[in-house]
Amino acid sequence: MAKTKVKTAFFCQSCGTQYPKWTGKCNACNEWNTIVEEVVSKPHPNEVKGSFSIKKNNKPLPVDSIELAEIPRIKLPGTELNRVLGGGLVPGSLVLFGGDPGIGKSTLMLQMSLRLKGKKILYVSGEESGQQLKMRADRIGNKNPDCYVLTETSTQHIFHHINEILPDILVIDSIQTLHTSTIDSSPGSISQVRECTSELMRYAKETNTPVFLVGHITKDGTIAGPKILEHMVDVVLQFEGDRNHIYRLLRSVKNRFGSTNELGIYEMQGAGLREVENPSEILLSNKDEQFSGAAVAATMEGNRPLLIEIQALVSTAAYGTPQRSSTGFDNKRLNMLLAVLEKRCGFKLGAKDVFINVAGGLKIDDPAVDLAVVSAVLSSSENIAIPSLFCFAAEVGLSGEIRPVSRVDQRIMEADKLGFEKIFISKYNRKGLDVSMYKIEVIFVDKMEAIFSKLFG
Ligand code: TYD
Ligand code: MG
Repeated sequence: MAKTKVKTAFFCQSCGTQYPKWTGKCNACNEWNTIVEEVVSKPHPNEVKGSFSIKKNNKPLPVDSIELAEIPRIKLPGTELNRVLGGGLVPGSLVLFGGDPGIGKSTLMLQMSLRLKGKKILYVSGEESGQQLKMRADRIGNKNPDCYVLTETSTQHIFHHINEILPDILVIDSIQTLHTSTIDSSPGSISQVRECTSELMRYAKETNTPVFLVGHITKDGTIAGPKILEHMVDVVLQFEGDRNHIYRLLRSVKNRFGSTNELGIYEMQGAGLREVENPSEILLSNKDEQFSGAAVAATMEGNRPLLIEIQALVSTAAYGTPQRSSTGFDNKRLNMLLAVLEKRCGFKLGAKDVFINVAGGLKIDDPAVDLAVVSAVLSSSENIAIPSLFCFAAEVGLSGEIRPVSRVDQRIMEADKLGFEKIFISKYNRKGLDVSMYKIEVIFVDKMEAIFSKLFG
């Protein structure tokens, strides 16, 4: 086929906006230096785009006349993945699954494919060879005659095999390695990723087959490719965790069929990922012993609730000027909290060194950690341990009042899910809160003095 002219366009690698010529700054997302040239060529008008095209012509209907059929969800093996998906996989849904390299995305997908019984599943890998997949499958140690693997990167070839095998579930590992012949640019570029996703979306919607798309993420934690990718899919799952630690968190960032508050926890073992049924086991590193000076804060990181241990050490100052030092927490705020403790509760901390450390090397600027910081300091100063299943979410004001924080329901829900017994929050957060929904006991406090008597009697 003779090509007359190579057509190119400029795309922002951050948001996917298209420009006719190069500019230094993307006007849509205000990012600098993100615009690159990509080759695009429009398919011939008579040529069918991709292998699936929408044939149905829908008419507008009054919303009340639409019958709501119970969506039969496909139950996947294990409980965590089903829970995060909102109770199972919805037929015809497109699920984007992102995470850092080496975190275990391919492992989780292959493990799911091998353990799913009674459904035909096609696992397409553009990253690994058949040998590598077999080695990984042997490591995971399950056998499934209905699990087919295909190492292919061209969507046209993939659709050809799909038409032969007719799978019940399709897994693509990863979307960045695919390419479609309708576009000339290289795999992984914005236009390729967008076009391949829309071909797979047409396939999912027309055949009612659920499709998992594994996606790479960029340095700052967003899915590589245009933001539009996240708009196109029904569910966005994120696999998080430190590669050097064994625990992995599975969250849903977007879910058209359920809530995004669900959390799945896995442990990476020699033979694949194990589901962690009692998640508080992660936080309770010292199950047998309880140390003074530690308190758990229910914080929010962006949209996500996160429980973090705050550690404090209060000791008699070795030098004339006491030291106040904090890692992961604002030092000025620590000084303020210590002044409040001194003035309102009569604690003589003036001649003491105070050290604060946020466990796990995290940096927090959520004011809701104030109460946990104060409690950790009190605990260390009095040398009485706080029970490890207590947690805190409140801000402390200058007059020693315990102030309300935003999204307290999400914090309580997370603490409840992680198996905590008590959470201390401001009494001003009580309005509109239905505490009977939770297993965890919610304790309302209004002043610093009250905290002291509630914790240490
Ligand atoms: P992988 O699934 O390849 O990550 P991703 O697809 O997200 O890039 O995970 C690879 C890591 O997981 C690798 O460093 C080894 C580890 N691993 C185990 O510890 N146990 C196992 O059974 C498997 C299959 C992998
Ligand atoms: Mg992989």
